[in-house]
Amino acid sequence: MPEKDVEWERLVNDIRNCTRCPLHRFRKKPVPGEGSLDSAVMFLGEAPGRSEDEAGRPFVGAAGRLLNELLNLAGLDRGEVFITNVVKCRPPNNRDPRSEEVAACSVHTNRIIGLVRPRVIVTLGNHAGRYIFERFSKMRWLGIKAMRGRVYRLNVLNDSVVVIATYHPAAALYNPQLKGELEEDFKVLLRRAIKLGSTLKQPTLLDFMGR
Ligand code: URA
Repeated sequence: MPEKDVEWERLVNDIRNCTRCPLHRFRKKPVPGEGSLDSAVMFLGEAPGRSEDEAGRPFVGAAGRLLNELLNLAGLDRGEVFITNVVKCRPPNNRDPRSEEVAACSVHTNRIIGLVRPRVIVTLGNHAGRYIFERFSKMRWLGIKAMRGRVYRLNVLNDSVVVIATYHPAAALYNPQLKGELEEDFKVLLRRAIKLGSTLKQPTLLDFMGR
């Protein structure tokens, strides 16, 4: 089995056995994430909901159906991207994840990012946006309205990564006005981000030796 698959199995197992935060007590199934481990594009959502908790897979409910449509707008297929969340277990009654839960789960989040090493990260919603920007840049997270519409370049775990921040698909289900903006972000911005991401030079072993 390729080394990446072995590490992914280890990671899934660690998430299954994780008791770092109270959310493990409420979950039916943890939701580590899914997709291609070689994907250039990673989507980071918030937390599993009821359908995801039952399936053990991310974005399989109503928000997931919209995400699939949005992916098509960007010319992407679900199987060629990687999708995960800032917390891997469902919060009770779908409440927002707490900052200490996001922090506890960051061990897994960062291992996933470090394994896939995407060139583009798309944050969906405030929790994912805050996590990436506050953890991997000196920028303060100012909310989606202020942060969206731009392509950022951040250093994420020693890789130069193109980041875009957009709304959570669930927000567009409640507020159809946001749907147009989300579609625009996928159709225009994400396509631009993927192009830019493919030109980024990633550090090689020689770069590390020269440091
Ligand atoms: N919302 C999320 O943020 N993640 C999921 O996996 C499903 C719904």
